Amino acid sequence: MSFILADKVAPYAWFPDGASSFVNQVDTLFTVIMWICVVFFVPIVIAMGYFMWKFRERPGYRGSPEALHNNLIEITWTVVPTIIVVWIFWEGAMGYLDMSRIPKGTIDVNVTAKKWNWAFKYENGGEHETIAVSESNVKELPLLVLPVERDIKIIMRSEDVLHSFYIPAFRAKRDVVPGRYNYLWFRPTVEGVYDLFCTEYCGDNHSQMIAKVKVVKEAEYRKALEKAVQEPEDPIERGKLLYKRQGCSTCHNAGSEGASGPGPSYNGSWGKKVQLESGEEVDFDENYVERSILNPQAQARKGYGKASPMNSYAGKLKKDQIEALIAFIKSLENSTAAGKK
Ligand code: CUA
Repeated sequence: MSFILADKVAPYAWFPDGASSFVNQVDTLFTVIMWICVVFFVPIVIAMGYFMWKFRERPGYRGSPEALHNNLIEITWTVVPTIIVVWIFWEGAMGYLDMSRIPKGTIDVNVTAKKWNWAFKYENGGEHETIAVSESNVKELPLLVLPVERDIKIIMRSEDVLHSFYIPAFRAKRDVVPGRYNYLWFRPTVEGVYDLFCTEYCGDNHSQMIAKVKVVKEAEYRKALEKAVQEPEDPIERGKLLYKRQGCSTCHNAGSEGASGPGPSYNGSWGKKVQLESGEEVDFDENYVERSILNPQAQARKGYGKASPMNSYAGKLKKDQIEALIAFIKSLENSTAAGKK
């Protein structure tokens, strides 16, 4: 903990409203450093201009050729800035250590970054909901729900490139590095909804890699956790949720959602005959879908077997979850939206 900074500081005009335990430390240090810069910069520039004018070359003027010594001034302008700079280093280093030392008893959240989205997984295995934000058109963003006044540990990994996890209101930021786990902690102190940004340029849609963080009372957070593991009763809705949660949507297009590739689209296939890699034809029905989930390679669709092999979901999905996915795919029987494959 720092020993000089005040406990409370008025929010500084250039920062968004703060909502974590890091806010006072970060905002105070920034504000103090900024004013130190102003206090030195302004008089120095004014004096520089004045001396340029006063000692300018002009007819009849001869400057003094001797270098002048003044011990008092020289000691002062060495000692004072040294003290200031060491203090800035000390405050910065202590603040950095506070942010790096993760306390015990945290609530852990797994965060996966990928081009160009955030995925959040809670301690009970539940996954995040989405929140509709209306800009010019209504858009859905991933929503991370967190309890207020609890230490939160974010366990981050990237599925592809370098990203960076940043919640400005919490003054919390850390890179998400491919090939390793990275950690970040903070303690939200004010309930509300906050922005989460990716702050590392990660490709075309880097600027769209945003999410929302909602800080709520602990009881409300517990409810959100329960809801996060629940699946809707309606089989089609449940299948649609699983399609997103289980990552099917990253390869298969369905309705107007999900990627268009590398896997075949679900749209309009149900009940038709499909061509297999082996040259055979099979009916696209319950049996085919179940087999394709459990053993994707056995009856791979033509053009999809070797080029883009899918991993088996055997053991990852329960029987009734597979049934829900079947119901969802079946509901796309007549859907052709965006799906040509
Ligand atoms: Cu992810 Cu920028």
